[in-house]
Amino acid sequence: MSEADTLVRLDGVTVTFDVGRDGFWGRHPKQLRAVDDVSFTIGRGETLGLVGESGSGKSTIGRALLRRTPVASGTITFDGQDITHVRGEPLRRLRRHMQLVFQDPYASLNPRMTVAELVSEPLRVHGMADSVEGARPVVSALLERCGLPADAADRYPHAFSGGQRQRVGIARALALEPAFIVADEPVSALDVSIRAQVVNLLQDLQRERNLTYLFIAHDLSVVRHISHRIAILYCGKLVELGPTADIYDRTKHPYTTALLSSVPIPDPPLQRSRTRIVLAGEVPNPVDPPPGCRFQTRCPMAEARCREQAPPLEEKAPGHWAACWLS
Ligand SMILES: Nc1ncnc2c1ncn2[C@@H]1O[C@H](COP(=O)(O)OP(=O)(O)OP(=O)(O)O)[C@@H](O)[C@H]1O
Ligand SMILES: [Mg+2]
Repeated sequence: MSEADTLVRLDGVTVTFDVGRDGFWGRHPKQLRAVDDVSFTIGRGETLGLVGESGSGKSTIGRALLRRTPVASGTITFDGQDITHVRGEPLRRLRRHMQLVFQDPYASLNPRMTVAELVSEPLRVHGMADSVEGARPVVSALLERCGLPADAADRYPHAFSGGQRQRVGIARALALEPAFIVADEPVSALDVSIRAQVVNLLQDLQRERNLTYLFIAHDLSVVRHISHRIAILYCGKLVELGPTADIYDRTKHPYTTALLSSVPIPDPPLQRSRTRIVLAGEVPNPVDPPPGCRFQTRCPMAEARCREQAPPLEEKAPGHWAACWLS
């Protein structure tokens, strides 16, 4: 991908959290490496699916990209500009171009605000509307585009179903006409029957507005349809990255194979014939990760080398990267 086609770029990004103290009289601060030396790019108009189990660092990557969590090292570039340490007014201006759609539309929308207030709030905060009334035409158009009824504006979030509430969350994220959206498990809290509708809406909006998405999910069933490429995260490390078809059909990492084996196939005979790999054991604690490859404690293929040395992320086929000694 040429530099001009890249909207978002992470280079060697590491995010750590201080989590208490260790040693005699607690002299050594304990650090959790939630994200460890992660690099990837997202092209303009592209959706990168980011998949991994709970605690693997997905939301932390999203928050770091949006400059809501500081990075310990590495660089974040947005639209050609190094934004790793931007603050103050330039950060405020930058925020207009990058928005977050949350997992839980129940928790993320203030229940005391009407939908018109919620959707117009970003416009008012950024000085693009002087009042809720002034923002009404824009809000109405956004609500209509997101598939909400005309009278939605004057109602409160509790009056809506989960799917409709997520549509309000999407309308709010679109208000400032951002270029980039981090959708952090946007359909995980919704009924399976309405997930596809919300994913389709995000996809249509992407085509219309040339939006770029980082679409976070904890399993591979949701992201296939929407992602152009998929990145697999394990315990803060990127283990595989490639075009969606390659991730599903030419899998290079045993962790991805294990994740795929738990994705239901709509064809029962095929489903029965497939070996299901059950991931035994817990994800290692990122405060104290195992030596060598982080997946070695649960990998059915692990060899001596895997326990000693961490495999580098290598390009195994054009555009298809994996961190595994055995692929
Ligand atoms: N503010 C924080 N302080 C301390 N530790 C944190 C903080 N935020 C996240 N962590 C830790 O960092 C790791 C990654 O967390 P993160 O929320 O990014 O994972 P995730 O992949 O989004 O998980 P989930 O699927 O549960 O949302 C976890 O071990 C988590 O406990
Ligand atoms: Mg998360």
